[in-house]
Amino acid sequence: MTVYLNGEYMPIGEARVPVLDRGFLLGDGVYEVIPVYARKPFRMAQHLARLQNSCDGIRLANPLDAARWTALIGDFIGRQDFADQNLYLQVTRGVAKRDHAFPQGAQPTVFMMANPLVTPTAEQFDAGVPAVTANDNRWQRCDIKSIALLANVLLRQVAVDAGATESVLLRDGYLTEGAASNIFAVKGGTILAPLRNHLMLPGITYDTVIELARAHGLPLEVREISEAEVRAADELWLTSSTKEILPITRLDGRPVGSGKAGPVARRMLALYQTLKETP
Ligand SMILES: Cc1ncc(COP(=O)(O)O)c(C=O)c1O
Repeated sequence: MTVYLNGEYMPIGEARVPVLDRGFLLGDGVYEVIPVYARKPFRMAQHLARLQNSCDGIRLANPLDAARWTALIGDFIGRQDFADQNLYLQVTRGVAKRDHAFPQGAQPTVFMMANPLVTPTAEQFDAGVPAVTANDNRWQRCDIKSIALLANVLLRQVAVDAGATESVLLRDGYLTEGAASNIFAVKGGTILAPLRNHLMLPGITYDTVIELARAHGLPLEVREISEAEVRAADELWLTSSTKEILPITRLDGRPVGSGKAGPVARRMLALYQTLKETP
């Protein structure tokens, strides 16, 4: 696998970051995951805008502007052996003597890698996945796509330990998102989306789903969603750039609605697939 590190391309086994990198010592950095279909990045402008927001959120000067990111990512995609890519990029505050305070004059570390993009199959979509609820005990800036993911790691493991795929996070009795995804509910044919605020990552897929619902006149409410509404939902979905729209068909061991992928999820996935083909 060819990766990019600070201006150079190299095999992943040769990529090295100094131990004093603030990403390694302090989790001081931000990242993006961009899905690439047939060598075309999907919603690149939106991903780059979110990267800029993440950089601003941690007061890190973005080392590249959108035009230079676009050129670099385009070049990088062309160097991979596979056409559908899960493109990961990360920027840290660079290498400096360990100190919490921002270093003077450190160069950001820029790293990029790509793995084959494996989206859910039709069978996986139909069956959906099990999830568990968990208490959202993360910080108050979940809108920043920070590489400091320890809380998300622990919350995701709650699901894995229970034999489930995702943790549905509740904060003060309300839905925020998943440990590594956004969560939607459907009740009586209406799509319910949690408010896009600092307590969740503004998912590019989340935005796309809302855009598609509005464009195609699907009933949609963007508002606070209570735990009771999550538990009484006809459908629950998780969304992310790699999972796209994936039904959650069991929650805490109980079936969600019919226990299979629901009709609104099916409609939304079809709209999403069409958009992917003609973005
Ligand atoms: C915590 C969290 N929320 C939401 C998402 C979904 O974001 P996107 O749709 O941009 O992939 C992710 C992505 O992996 C995530 O880690």
